[in-house]
Amino acid sequence: MALNFVAPALPGTGALATGFKPKAQAPAAPLNSAGAVLATLPLAAVSRRSTREARTARLLGPKASAELLEKRGEVDAGLGTAESKPWEFLSGIAKDAARAWFVQRAEDRGVAWRFMVEKMQAQQQDLEAHYDRIHNESIEYPDYYTRSFHGYDEGNLSWRAAHELAPATQSMCLGYYDGMAWQDAQEEFRGGARRAIQDFWAAGADKDPETLLDLGCSGGFSSKEMSKAFPTTKVSGMDLSPYFLSVAKQCYPQIEFLHGNAESTGLPDESFDVVTLNFLLHELPLDASRKVLREASRLLKPGGVLAVLDVDPKQLSALPPFRRWAFQVTEPWCKDGEYFDLKLGPELEPLGFQDFQQIANDPVNSLALARKAL
Ligand SMILES: C[S@@+](CC[C@H](N)C(=O)[O-])C[C@H]1O[C@@H](n2cnc3c(N)ncnc32)[C@H](O)[C@@H]1O
Repeated sequence: MALNFVAPALPGTGALATGFKPKAQAPAAPLNSAGAVLATLPLAAVSRRSTREARTARLLGPKASAELLEKRGEVDAGLGTAESKPWEFLSGIAKDAARAWFVQRAEDRGVAWRFMVEKMQAQQQDLEAHYDRIHNESIEYPDYYTRSFHGYDEGNLSWRAAHELAPATQSMCLGYYDGMAWQDAQEEFRGGARRAIQDFWAAGADKDPETLLDLGCSGGFSSKEMSKAFPTTKVSGMDLSPYFLSVAKQCYPQIEFLHGNAESTGLPDESFDVVTLNFLLHELPLDASRKVLREASRLLKPGGVLAVLDVDPKQLSALPPFRRWAFQVTEPWCKDGEYFDLKLGPELEPLGFQDFQQIANDPVNSLALARKAL
């Protein structure tokens, strides 16, 4: 039976409810997944909200965590600069310490990290069967993709990263909202995006889309979210990692998962009503992002909708030095001249999109929506 580790089946007190027991020593694990370090680094307690913090609270939303409000406050005070050193240059001790800290913090907040990893490892035979069916041998991996990512030396092309996808995804929003269980935090930011995409689609159509493509789908969590938004739609997910897609298929067998490059999918022109990019673009160099946006325009039917949920570069640029370093060290393309310089509005207009809007989805991520002209 396929297991859905990502759905909010585990209560906030995951350790007790699942039989999972924290061990003293944490294993290797990623530093972050899609913005997780924003939420994970140790911070001084914030005891009161100053006038400046009250102002930033208005910018980030009433539910933003004290951690994020403090971060934004430091930016307003002009402290948001830092140099980053690639993950490859960190010592083994520094990497292990960072990973152990990340896992422990997630477990302290109820994410059953090691329990879930062990459960996924136990399904290795199924995963390898999916891999054999999904893996497209003709795919050539771009150089930008074969680097270290998220604290894994071997990047996205490994079983180790794949086994940890579910708890890493659960951990990504831990710092968005104060005192919220990870399940509620996930629903707060994922549900917000889901509803905004539904509304945007419904403004131009009187029935659900027929087809939706989720590019950069990873372990399938965002594809599953999209099938919740549009229950009658045929949802397909595409990713460059056959390891991640094997986990996706294991968790969500009803969804189609395709091994491909979002820059050039090989799928027919105008074959999708909706294309979603959930946390893909911050993992790409600027050139590749532009190719992905062009590809999305080619794939969409006239009147089709593009949705881009991703970290807000302003928030990232805004990180104070240590935290910005800790994020960038595991996200090689989150920097000036690359993701930070991607301006979706001006990029999308010449590609034939209209009705562009970009809204704050949550305290860290923005959601951009646009419709391909008829
Ligand atoms: C942060 S993860 C996406 C998470 C997922 N969409 C979600 O919302 O939970 C980014 C994904 O993009 C994939 N990716 C990166 N470059 C890609 C490319 N050129 N084509 C397809 N997938 C790519 C990575 O393998 C990774 O799984």
